[in-house]
Amino acid sequence: MTDPILHDLWNRYTCKSYDPTRKVPEEKLQILYEALRLTPSSINSQPWKFIVISSDKAKRRLYDTFTEPYHFNRQYVLDSTVTILFAHNPKYRLENYEEVVKKMIEDGRIPPEKKERALQSFRFARMHTDESGFNGHWTKAQLYIALGNAYHTLARLGIDSTALEGIDVERVEAEFKEELGGFACHVALCIGYHQATDYNAKLPKSRLEHDSIFIHL
Ligand SMILES: Cc1cc2nc3c(=O)[nH]c(=O)nc-3n(C[C@H](O)[C@H](O)[C@H](O)COP(=O)(O)O)c2cc1C
Repeated sequence: MTDPILHDLWNRYTCKSYDPTRKVPEEKLQILYEALRLTPSSINSQPWKFIVISSDKAKRRLYDTFTEPYHFNRQYVLDSTVTILFAHNPKYRLENYEEVVKKMIEDGRIPPEKKERALQSFRFARMHTDESGFNGHWTKAQLYIALGNAYHTLARLGIDSTALEGIDVERVEAEFKEELGGFACHVALCIGYHQATDYNAKLPKSRLEHDSIFIHL
């Protein structure tokens, strides 16, 4: 019998056609949101924001941002249950980390007297920051851990999804400027259930062979 983890990962796939009549139950979405919140990140920085597009109005706002060559992606936004905009802070600052440390104290992870010491971990963020304060390469890398976490969680829940890097970043960031509050959005994730006619569901999985991507020493 296949290991349950591998079973999930073999069976998940990128949905190319959603059934608009089948909605993901709210309690399952809540599990996904909690999984996203629990995503680990370097120095526990959590430099992200997740904007959940679920109302018809918000879906239409996102739909209208699509331009060529990404038009093929836009129908997923209307037919899936929700689309999550995955956003990262391109200029993660000490004040952002202060918020994290404050929460770690509240959660009892570090004692209040160790606050200054905990804040010293911010040096690892500084190492990835240029003169203008930009550290978006680093914060985006953290955000993609959340994307991977979402994939695995959805596979376990038997829910279909489509990651979309095929978005017009400039237009998405302009349309959702207020909600993003200065964060960048380079990727979204549609979530729902596939139609029986989805061609992609029937294709075999294809990945490079173990020996071409692993080096065991
Ligand atoms: C970060 C990322 C961005 C992606 N962007 C798109 C996209 O814009 N449109 C799309 O149809 N598929 C997109 N995909 C899906 C990939 O093409 C797909 O995951 C890959 O071919 C492997 O197939 P599988 O997910 O069915 O196993 C994206 C996947 C990832 C991880």
